[in-house]
Amino acid sequence: MLIFVVYHVEIQLTAYISLFTLYFMSSFLSDGDFELFRKLIYNQSGIHFSDTNRAILESRLKEQLREKGLNEVRAYYDLVSKDKEELKLFLDSITTNLTRFFRNQAHFDALEKYVIPELIKIKKPLNDFKIKVWSAGCSTGEEPYTIAMLMKETLPSPWFAEIVASDISLKSLMVGKEGFYADARVVGVPDHYLKKYFTRVDGGYQIRDEIKQMIRFDYHNLMYDSGLRNMDVVFCRNVLIYFDEASQKATIERFWEAMAPKSFLFIGHSESLFGMNTKFEFVKTEWATFYRKYI
Ligand SMILES: C[S@@+](CC[C@H](N)C(=O)[O-])C[C@H]1O[C@@H](n2cnc3c(N)ncnc32)[C@H](O)[C@@H]1O
Repeated sequence: MLIFVVYHVEIQLTAYISLFTLYFMSSFLSDGDFELFRKLIYNQSGIHFSDTNRAILESRLKEQLREKGLNEVRAYYDLVSKDKEELKLFLDSITTNLTRFFRNQAHFDALEKYVIPELIKIKKPLNDFKIKVWSAGCSTGEEPYTIAMLMKETLPSPWFAEIVASDISLKSLMVGKEGFYADARVVGVPDHYLKKYFTRVDGGYQIRDEIKQMIRFDYHNLMYDSGLRNMDVVFCRNVLIYFDEASQKATIERFWEAMAPKSFLFIGHSESLFGMNTKFEFVKTEWATFYRKYI
């Protein structure tokens, strides 16, 4: 009897808690408001918020409302719809900026052992000693800095690399520009790179100027033409996964426009151009797979 009562109370309690959560969740962001924000985010950034990610959007929106001192989701929607700077801050708040130095080492092995020698072979007869790289969706800079260090290590004189690192997240770009990384964030950086290209400072490591100078950090939304042309290598890793198919395809077409003939495209290892009907060719090397614009 006692077990039955306890069980009964437990079921009722669970039901009340669910109703309570549901009430507050839905009163904060109605289905209609979720659709409004979802459309706005998609149109402005290509990022697709699925129903399963609704809770993430809700929590980011709550933070924004708290920061702005607003009570109504609609008031915040009006603000970001009218004010371009507020829209940028909002988009910044919903991005996922997870990254690390030497992320997916195989890509950097392929860059060093296959891509750089190929580019040298192509460009040498033209007396063109500059290798132009674009890190698209660079987050806090670990990816472009990894590329820069590797280029510095690998390229013989008089070759040099020029890297454009772009992102939609202003906060991340500021971290990248600063070039300071706390101890925990340099895990995975080989020791000789740490010694050669970083300066030990309080609580972490500062990227040295000779590496910083190789990179230009820029705000850029991949939904638009970057204006970049003749890039020899494009890294756009772990960005396309947040886009739906139409935005992925449009982004890949813009990369095509930005890239030089015989150039290279790296995307994340869980991403693929399969079925997208692009002009890029798939390249499989002993180190990693990537794509190439042959013409
Ligand atoms: C998960 S991080 C990947 C960082 C790095 N490429 C890597 O693989 O480690 C994804 C980055 O893409 C950026 N991003 C998302 N949508 C974007 C867009 N429409 N235009 C430019 N950057 C975007 C985010 O701000 C975020 O910094």
